[in-house]
Amino acid sequence: MNQAPENYALLTVEGKEIQLPLIIGSEGEKGIDISGLRRDTSCVTIDPGFMNTASCYSQITYIDGEKGILRYRGYDIQELCKKVMFVDVAYLLVHGELPGESERRNFSRQLNLNSMIHEDMRRFFDNFPQGAHPMCILSTMINAMAAFYPQVDLKSMADNIDDSCARVISIVRTMAAFAYKKSIGEPVVYPRQDLSYCANFLNMMFDSPVRPYVISPEAVRLLNTLFIIHADHEQNCSTSAVRVIGSAQVNLYATISAGISALSGPLHGGANQAVIEMLRMIQEDGDVEKFIRLAKDKSSPFRLMGFGHRVYKTYDPRAEIAKMECEKYLASSGYTDPLLDVARRVEEAARKDSYFIDRQLYPNVDFYTGILYRALGIPENMFTVMFALARLPGWVAHWKEMIGDSTKLVRPRQIYMGRTGDEAKREIEKRSIAAHLI
Ligand code: CMC
Repeated sequence: MNQAPENYALLTVEGKEIQLPLIIGSEGEKGIDISGLRRDTSCVTIDPGFMNTASCYSQITYIDGEKGILRYRGYDIQELCKKVMFVDVAYLLVHGELPGESERRNFSRQLNLNSMIHEDMRRFFDNFPQGAHPMCILSTMINAMAAFYPQVDLKSMADNIDDSCARVISIVRTMAAFAYKKSIGEPVVYPRQDLSYCANFLNMMFDSPVRPYVISPEAVRLLNTLFIIHADHEQNCSTSAVRVIGSAQVNLYATISAGISALSGPLHGGANQAVIEMLRMIQEDGDVEKFIRLAKDKSSPFRLMGFGHRVYKTYDPRAEIAKMECEKYLASSGYTDPLLDVARRVEEAARKDSYFIDRQLYPNVDFYTGILYRALGIPENMFTVMFALARLPGWVAHWKEMIGDSTKLVRPRQIYMGRTGDEAKREIEKRSIAAHLI
């Protein structure tokens, strides 16, 4: 972060002129520092949805939404997908550097050591009703971790930060697989020391006493790629939730649980499941153009799920990778999915339509990933859980960065537009007179 002293914005408020420093980020992004605004003018700013607000300084992830660039700690995601594994990316996000051999060994050891769920917690799974959404099970279970691992005050967690981070990244994977096994009425499969992070997850999901799971290296490679492209996305809704909740010095488990709840919404991580439901609906109907018309119709609540993004005003680089993987993985595995053809037709129709062109609405990360999860055998109600598993290192990295900064409690202001005190006094006055008459 650089502050160019000669660069500032001039603001005139009720005749008083003040200078606001212009902050320039390491990739040239500009921001106006308004941290002294209320002190100097008694005014606040209003920015619903925080469309123009940078909530913090961060060194983790860089996005250029106009050019379609996404980098973790400076590295392009395309490069990371080609050259490293998800666990390396998790380490990179949390620790700031790619691991060397010994760091990678230590990190894997920590992930292994922390992969088991407290046996008493396992019984919790039996008490959720059949059909409970796994995102709800996951957020509940993570919140409950504070009861089983009680060293959760901020100091203890910060003093053992590597363990705290490794535990949450590793154990959530086990919980996700257990939640799935519970939902299909099969016995749980425990994590194995000899398997890599993604292979372990696939094995816990699909192995069974009567049908041993054969781990395919192509499936592991695909899952690594999917996890890498979801691993972080700077101040998105769930990460902001993590930072807001974490700023109250809440323990890491409660903080991550809040992130998972935020992610579950259909406008955020829940969109990958919504995309498949939409594609199936379009496939059954057969008329792509009808749904394009519906998406443009302001009197209809229907939106093209998996399209549009708050930051990307061009093709989402993650969607580009997912689309490429659809061609590659489906061809190599021999799996065919008629929904891929529907998705291609929807994209083609939307991308030549002026409504989508004018509003710069392109496929986002969720448009093609559901097709890939289906190809891996992941059931639809687990799609958002997959997103959550992948996003964990990002949330943990932001939490760690936040507690390392002297960040203040997040507490926005508002502009009150309700009944005035004088109006309320007059109202209550009338009531007391009426009460007296009775
Ligand atoms: N289908 C139809 N119209 C759309 C869509 C869509 N998917 N997305 C945006 N628009 C229109 C919107 O109606 C508005 O039109 P107008 O200017 O005429 O009022 C304009 O485009 C701008 O949309 P917005 O809702 O003001 O933009 P936003 O930045 O607030 O919303 C979004 C971003 C992702 C919530 C939105 O594009 C959307 O609802 N997309 C569908 C849900 C989805 O795919 N979500 C996953 C997002 S990516 C994963 C993640 O990071 O969580």
